[in-house]
Amino acid sequence: MVNEFNTIDDFDVENKTVLVRIDINSPVDPGTGIILDDTRLKLHSQTIKELSNKGAKVVLLAHQSRPGKKDFTTLAQHADALSDILNLRVKYVDSLFSSLAKEAIKSLKPHEILLLENARFFSEESLSRTPLEQSKTILVQQLSPYIDYFVNDAFAAAHRSHASLIGFTVNTPSVAGRVMEKELTVIQNALDNVEHPCVFLLGGMKADDSIGVMENVLNNGTADSILTTGIVGNIVLWAAGIDIGQVNRDFISSRGYEDMVEKSRELLERFGDKIKYPIDVACELDDERVDIDCGEIPNEAIFDIGIKTIAYYAKEIREAKYIFANGPAGVFEDPKFSMGTEDLINAMANSNGFTLIGGGHIAAATSGLGLEDHMSHLSSGGGACISMLAGKDLAAVEALKNSKK
Ligand code: 3PG
Repeated sequence: MVNEFNTIDDFDVENKTVLVRIDINSPVDPGTGIILDDTRLKLHSQTIKELSNKGAKVVLLAHQSRPGKKDFTTLAQHADALSDILNLRVKYVDSLFSSLAKEAIKSLKPHEILLLENARFFSEESLSRTPLEQSKTILVQQLSPYIDYFVNDAFAAAHRSHASLIGFTVNTPSVAGRVMEKELTVIQNALDNVEHPCVFLLGGMKADDSIGVMENVLNNGTADSILTTGIVGNIVLWAAGIDIGQVNRDFISSRGYEDMVEKSRELLERFGDKIKYPIDVACELDDERVDIDCGEIPNEAIFDIGIKTIAYYAKEIREAKYIFANGPAGVFEDPKFSMGTEDLINAMANSNGFTLIGGGHIAAATSGLGLEDHMSHLSSGGGACISMLAGKDLAAVEALKNSKK
């Protein structure tokens, strides 16, 4: 696959203005607004440093969270954190294509680095369209005259066909950055060598991505079993006819995932017990964690999988030869509810099989436990990684391939 697109090795970037799309979307403490994990910032520092060392004028473009969410913030703090990691000053401008931003780009000298504002502050950014359509958006039209090359290093967002990810590839020579190159090589290699039993551990909050993958990997025979946790687990419990309490049903509806319940019902009918769901869950009663069997769940928010589910899933993980995990099992940031996420990560770390962890939050939990070196691969991508494992084309990668043609 790596021969199908250009990389940083293919262009001389000295004295050139290079727009680098990175993915530094990071967990942010909802109370303090402080970045809780800098794994993605550290990862991209390799590409940024290499370009700066080669004499490029480096302009960084990134997003943080989604409109409406509590961690949908400016990137001022990300610039400071990147400066510390790189030990180089990363300038920051609080706009995307204002005259201030354009002036900041024009005045960059070789080796200098500038971070633009959160790309999702541009309202058109999150619309999914073709590369040609995205090349006509105001973001791409306004920035293109100021850049010589486009480097896409944002593997974690490569499944999105957003303007900042695919729009520049139409008219600007485009290459993959080092993070993109490595992720695509390692995951493709894993895909070409899947061994069975193969288990997918799907959790976290992005249930639409996860349930789509569940369908694909069961359909194409990649997965032998799916272990569901987090909101995905709650949706499957609901689909299986288990009373999860009104508060949890309301939460699922508030995220717009009611149709995922119907989808899960269909999948349960087709694939039966290949889809595992929690047998107990953890709620908070009188400020304490309480583990409760499914069937007796009160009208209280579910914050983690229960202890019996942990044991059941850990056994499946131990017996598997290939384990892919995406998304935490619960609200692991709260020590009362970190057990599900941490114990399953530990089970993976002790496995003799091939272990692949994908997704910002579960990757952060793995790094927090100091277990990153115990995994076969810790991917920076959640949705991007599982889409790839499910055999889907990634929009940003296809755009890079087309730009080489
Ligand atoms: C991620 O964290 O998976 C990427 O940054 C993509 O984010 P998104 O799901 O909000 O598009």
